Amino acid sequence: MSSLLSIVVLLAVASSGFCEKEFLQRAGKDFNSRQYRSVLTVNNGERFGDWTWPEMCPDNFFAVGFSVRVETNQYGGDDTALNGIRLICSQDESRSFLYYVESHTGHTGEWSHPQYCPGGVLTSFQIRVEPKQGPLGDDTAVNNIKFRCSSNPTLEAPSMQWGDYGYWSEDCTNGGICGIETKMEEYQWALDDSSLNDVRLFCCNKSQQVC
Ligand SMILES: *[C@@H]1O[C@H](CO)[C@@H](O)[C@H](O)[C@H]1NC(C)=O
Repeated sequence: MSSLLSIVVLLAVASSGFCEKEFLQRAGKDFNSRQYRSVLTVNNGERFGDWTWPEMCPDNFFAVGFSVRVETNQYGGDDTALNGIRLICSQDESRSFLYYVESHTGHTGEWSHPQYCPGGVLTSFQIRVEPKQGPLGDDTAVNNIKFRCSSNPTLEAPSMQWGDYGYWSEDCTNGGICGIETKMEEYQWALDDSSLNDVRLFCCNKSQQVC
């Protein structure tokens, strides 16, 4: 088991290049048995698609930063705007050993440079959503996301400007954001794609153990 872990670590180091000091690996569904305290939702998500699957940060890890996958303006082509949200999870302030979770993401766009809370963890979010455009319109649904940190600043990704922000979700109390599930419209082939339509995030308690 420990040799398996060291192989995984070696592979991660090798694949991220030797200049990279940081360990960053996708957690996927490996930690989905983690107990969560509550689910954060917002009320302005769009209607297309279905909830996909949750992905949880490992035990004792909380989201401290994020990155988004955004398709830029297609100028007359089919726009989808925000396609994915990746939460970066850490177990301490050193942030040297990181996992990420993203649930199901769309197929287009580039991942943004990660943004981190100056200290602490992510505790709430709001989304910018373009409302349904009608039969001849080009739907994009979610365009952007903002997070609030326990250290208080809000972080906003560089993304598209269509639509409006809704209300903030509730706050995670006694802990922080520890998982994500996306609602995605499946790829529409030649039809109008909107990609990501809604998101819900999970809150976990900080561990009770002292020392
Ligand atoms: C989280 O903490 C609260 C009280 O602090 C407790 O009521 C709740 O059961 C805990 N939830 C989990 C999943 O540990």
